[in-house]
Amino acid sequence: MDKFIIKGGNRLHGRVKISGAKNGALALMPATILAPGTYHLHNTPNLRDVWTMSRLMTELGAFCELNDNDLFIDTTNLNKTTAPYEHVKNMRASFYVLGPLLARFGEAKVSLPGGCAWGPRPVDLHIKGMQKLGADIKLENGYIIAKAEKLIGAKIHLDVSSVGATGNILMAATLAKGTTIISNAATEPEITALARMLVKMGAKINGIGTAILEIEGVDRLNPVDETSIPDRIEAATYLIAAAATGGAIELENVNPYHLTAVIAKLEECGCEINVNSDNIFITAKQPVKKAVDIKTAIYPGIPTDIQAQWTALMACKCEGNSKITDTVYTDRFKHIPELIRLGADIDIVDNSAFVKSSPDKTLVGAQVMASDLRAGAALIIAALSAEGTTEIHRIYHIDRGYEAIEKKLTNLGAYIKRVRTDLI
Ligand code: UD1
Repeated sequence: MDKFIIKGGNRLHGRVKISGAKNGALALMPATILAPGTYHLHNTPNLRDVWTMSRLMTELGAFCELNDNDLFIDTTNLNKTTAPYEHVKNMRASFYVLGPLLARFGEAKVSLPGGCAWGPRPVDLHIKGMQKLGADIKLENGYIIAKAEKLIGAKIHLDVSSVGATGNILMAATLAKGTTIISNAATEPEITALARMLVKMGAKINGIGTAILEIEGVDRLNPVDETSIPDRIEAATYLIAAAATGGAIELENVNPYHLTAVIAKLEECGCEINVNSDNIFITAKQPVKKAVDIKTAIYPGIPTDIQAQWTALMACKCEGNSKITDTVYTDRFKHIPELIRLGADIDIVDNSAFVKSSPDKTLVGAQVMASDLRAGAALIIAALSAEGTTEIHRIYHIDRGYEAIEKKLTNLGAYIKRVRTDLI
């Protein structure tokens, strides 16, 4: 197991290229199951979750090869319909194969994901959606067994605007007979990007980017080449890291439009931000001028995936107190005890973290542990701004979603080293 050693105090400066969106690629990859053939997915981030999805697709009989950021997938010989526990338990996004397998083969056996690091994360909406499309669903030995000779279009209202359920149902509905309407659909950019790829493949979808998707099923789809959108969560993480260190950096290959809510909050903190079509420049001063509350929400609100990083920023040298509320995942606070080990002053009440800070309060390095991907990113941000050395353990969580993070941060002037602990 690797760990990061970070010496805090360096202001981030320079340029960083943002990778393709992890959550985007994890939706595009299973979409290739829908139509046998060869696909090139460009700008695919080279990271652990993408390798996990590649392994699952290979297990199903596909051929996957990732060269740098160019992912080649051949689903011609994909012929298995079981997604085993070992793959799904490690990454919930594996559940995305349910819809495409069911649509192409009329059957799918997919392990239930189980809990995740910060609490229960149900898949009931995915399952209800498939049932509405006419699938017969059984739960046996921890597996969802879905069967449908032919999926039939239906009206599906999602009680919660779920990204995963929207993507899964959308993929299944492209090959259903008749029209499907998904209301309260997720409008996250990664779902919009998935819908655009499906249209390129020949799907008929109206309302892309809105909360009502209308899908008219077609008989067959065709393989295509596609390019992943930039990772807005990775981008936000670098912006927040720059703010936490009083840095000045430029983000390349980014879509500022996807980050409107985060940029507005950073500006409220006193950061200066300028954007071009695919660049963002941020200049920040330390201490952070003003503590700013956030409340996470579905897109275009503040993403839950930056809640932990924002909490770290607020815990660094900052003028005032702040309240951070997560309305999407109400118990996603595993990073707080670790931030407290670095000297942060944070209380949790229900689904809110109350952070006390002051301009002369400095976090101090310590040994900490990443409990999940974004919790790990928060610890990196705190460590970069802290005095002294921080050791972050269990960084395999961070490797799931940040491509070459230590290289990118080193290029920005940070002191961060990866150490193989099994060699010590
Ligand atoms: C995706 C993202 C994840 C992000 C999350 C919210 C991927 C691979 N992951 O996860 O990084 O944090 O969106 O933006 O894209 N829910 C139900 N029933 C369901 C499904 C979800 O009640 O069947 C609830 C969840 O408990 C949660 C809310 O819906 O409260 C949103 O979850 P969802 O959008 O489904 O998250 P994921 O797709 O799992």
